[in-house]
Amino acid sequence: MAFFLHLFVFSVAAWFAHVHAQLQTGFISIDCGSPEDMNFVDLETGISYTSDGPFISTGENRNMSLEYRYPNNPMLPRAFSDLRTFPQGNKNCYTLRPIGGKTSLNLIRATFMYGNYDGENKLPEFDLYLGVNLWESVKFVNASDVVITEIIGVAFEDTLSVCLVNIGQGVPFISVLELRPLNRSIYNIEPGISGSLVVFQRLDIGYTNGTGRYADDMYDRIWSPYNSPAWDSLHTSVDIDISGNGYRAPNEVMQTGATPKNGTESLEFSWNVSDPKSKFYIYMYFADLVMPGRNQTRQFNVSWNKVQLFGNVSPHAYYASTFYSSRALVGNEHKISIQRSGSENAVPILNAIEIYRVQEFTDLATISRDVDAIHNFRTTYKVNRNWVGDPCGPKKYSWEGVLCNYTNSSPPQIISINLSTSDLTGQVAASLANLSSLETLDLSNNSLTGPIPDFLEKLSFLKFLNLRGNQLSGYVSRSLLERSKAGLLILSVDSQNLCDSGSCQSKKKKIAVPIIVSVLTSLILLLLLFIILRYRSKRKTIKGNSNEEGRALESNNRQFTYAEVANMTNNFQTAIGKGGFGTVYLGRLKNGSQVAVKLLSASSSQGYKEFQNEAELLMRVHHRNLASFVGYSHDNNKMALVYEYMANGNLKSYISDRNLHPLSWEMRLKIAIDAAQGLEYLHHGCRPAIIHRDVKSANILLNENLVAKIADFGLSKGLPDDQTTHIFAEVTGTPGYLDPEYRESRNLNEKSDVYSFGIVLLELITGQPAIIKTTYHTHIIQYVTPYLEHGDITSIVDEQMEGDFNLDSVWKAIELSVACTRAKSTQRVTMSEVLTGLKSCLEMELARGPKNQVNHGSQKMVGLRMDHSPEVFSMDFDLMTAPSGR
Ligand SMILES: *[C@@H]1O[C@H](CO)[C@@H](O)[C@H](O)[C@H]1NC(C)=O
Ligand SMILES: *[C@@H]1O[C@H](CO)[C@@H](O)[C@H](O)[C@H]1NC(C)=O
Ligand SMILES: *[C@@H]1O[C@H](CO)[C@@H](O)[C@H](O)[C@H]1NC(C)=O
Repeated sequence: MAFFLHLFVFSVAAWFAHVHAQLQTGFISIDCGSPEDMNFVDLETGISYTSDGPFISTGENRNMSLEYRYPNNPMLPRAFSDLRTFPQGNKNCYTLRPIGGKTSLNLIRATFMYGNYDGENKLPEFDLYLGVNLWESVKFVNASDVVITEIIGVAFEDTLSVCLVNIGQGVPFISVLELRPLNRSIYNIEPGISGSLVVFQRLDIGYTNGTGRYADDMYDRIWSPYNSPAWDSLHTSVDIDISGNGYRAPNEVMQTGATPKNGTESLEFSWNVSDPKSKFYIYMYFADLVMPGRNQTRQFNVSWNKVQLFGNVSPHAYYASTFYSSRALVGNEHKISIQRSGSENAVPILNAIEIYRVQEFTDLATISRDVDAIHNFRTTYKVNRNWVGDPCGPKKYSWEGVLCNYTNSSPPQIISINLSTSDLTGQVAASLANLSSLETLDLSNNSLTGPIPDFLEKLSFLKFLNLRGNQLSGYVSRSLLERSKAGLLILSVDSQNLCDSGSCQSKKKKIAVPIIVSVLTSLILLLLLFIILRYRSKRKTIKGNSNEEGRALESNNRQFTYAEVANMTNNFQTAIGKGGFGTVYLGRLKNGSQVAVKLLSASSSQGYKEFQNEAELLMRVHHRNLASFVGYSHDNNKMALVYEYMANGNLKSYISDRNLHPLSWEMRLKIAIDAAQGLEYLHHGCRPAIIHRDVKSANILLNENLVAKIADFGLSKGLPDDQTTHIFAEVTGTPGYLDPEYRESRNLNEKSDVYSFGIVLLELITGQPAIIKTTYHTHIIQYVTPYLEHGDITSIVDEQMEGDFNLDSVWKAIELSVACTRAKSTQRVTMSEVLTGLKSCLEMELARGPKNQVNHGSQKMVGLRMDHSPEVFSMDFDLMTAPSGR
């Protein structure tokens, strides 16, 4: 059989079930568009549906056209006949509060039936989001189509938002929305893949007139009945024991199954999709439906595209077991075969199968500090706008009047709020004080009263403040006025708020004071630098022996004037790089040595903190493999950091630039060793240990001799001595390199850097970037895994090396990268172990004597043996349950 469906489109019959007593703990079942307080129990499923009221405040209730509903369509489930449409706003969201709260796993099902509700007979298309990430694009072929899509989603907060986004192809609507709590230990996807599982097919095999939904399915999944003409269906009325594992396929589903009509043939499924990077997970359910006592038990192998997934499966009678792929099946053509492996009587059986597609989730939700603050603000003013879901995401759909900044590595932050002319009353909300990245605040022409609050001056990035047209009392604080006079802040307030002494003229016009720069913050930074400098030079005697190669640079650290900086860069003539904070220029010191000068741009808000962080750190740590710090400038309100110039740029661009002289395997190992030494020093040579937090090939710089140094310490953190981990509210790092465990737990320790380093190592081996961008984005781990599973490493090794390397050395390096990127941080190696491993890779490579050409390309090294952790590359498909002796 073959599936070609993209969406999970059902016939209405699949909806029904003969049940009346659903266990509904934690179920959320919303009949979208039903009139207020019209709760009812669906007679077929026994499930109680509620109206939208508590979950959404926008949209309009509508009914389908008569021809599609009762009495013309008596079989239609009641919940389908009405729906909620969203003619207003690009984004409308339902807020669901799963019973398991934060980190709970939930099945969420959205159902859509158009039924010509608007009389236009025009099928709309729109997008469905879970939080800030795309879940499904909803499309219809006929007005009578029932489109059902199910996703398995983790709640990262106490709530989950399901958003309908208008993409300009008609008004979005929804018929039914349901949430079912799942056992956290099932339907997991491997680390390294950030995404959610969307149901592709869920089939109850061997029973063609089944109903689809069952009371004893504690997760209320919909199982489509299916049988093939080539199969015999089996059915038993004996109850099946489904208690063996967390998947709990219902008894009715397990009581049916199919075997091939001709026992020598296999049971087969295939499906095709257009994207070759598509990832699927399958879950297969087996139970023998024939009394034990016959002379042969069933025994069979399950394979995917001829690769064996599970060998010698032998289901027990009346006892359900679940087999699942613990690795994603990647590709656009998929064929599952179940083939007998034992004697003639060992005919295979299959009772049910679930196929899930991975929907990649790469966007981050808004930083929680800002989410909390803006929710508070919304509550204070009962803001009369469509402020639902995440304030900043999905990217193009931030809240009306709210603007955010988006970076690749960190969660979006709110930088602008414009609620001009929005009927706001009461005092200026204190929650604004927490929006610490705010640059623009426009609350003009409302009815705000009370004093102008002092906390506004704490918003250090504020560049535009408009409070005109309110009835505010009191005066704008002196510090805001100063910032305004200095040109740092464009300030607009009513005239009565401008006097800072009793003697001002009462007839002053409303004025907007334009301006410039904060002297205060600059002074503070300067002071800080001095204190650190002092502190460090006192500690100099204790430090500095950490690495025999470490060059003492302390005495060279010096402060430059802005004029000196301008002079050394020839008036900022040659820009050699650009970061989030500003531009990097090429410079030359008086002694002739070249330097790189990183200048903080006045407009960079985030950069300031990172800049400061980096300056502090560089003053403190010195190592041959860390960016060498020459000095800094803090003069004229301009800040600059001066480093040793690294002639060969960063590793990322070096690898990707195919015009440069290709790096040999030996050079790559040396670069890896350099970078590992730098990190090892941060982790184990510094007290407290320092976590870099943004290890990536773009932050590894190469000097003229290709010696590698770690750079960019803007996000680095020292960990307190007394503990090994620390929880950080905001997760930062770069996609592709970000440790998935840290992203989930926010529990930071040095193993997060180890994970990122493992990715860099894979880049060095393969020449591919961490995220490979074709039509779809593939993570480098995803890219290499299928090759490694087949023992084929020559296909992934960077072809620029032309096969010229010692294979064992490369294998060992791959093993190291695997050991760095293990899912559980506790199972990852330390940087010291990585360093030792890399050094022995280099030894192997150097020991092979004269370079020999090895054929590459088609050569396959099947099943190359590894010294340790061989399970890492085996297919790693897990057998659930199936205890012996039953
Ligand atoms: C969840 O599944 C696990 C493993 O299958 C099982 O041990 C556990 O009892 C289940 N929890 C619940 C609440 O059903
Ligand atoms: C069963 O299948 C095998 C292999 O495809 C074939 O040789 C055999 O003739 C088939 N038997 C029947 C009864 O169709
Ligand atoms: C805020 O919105 C109003 C009305 O849309 C507009 O006139 C004003 O310029 C906006 N303010 C800012 C700072 O963009």
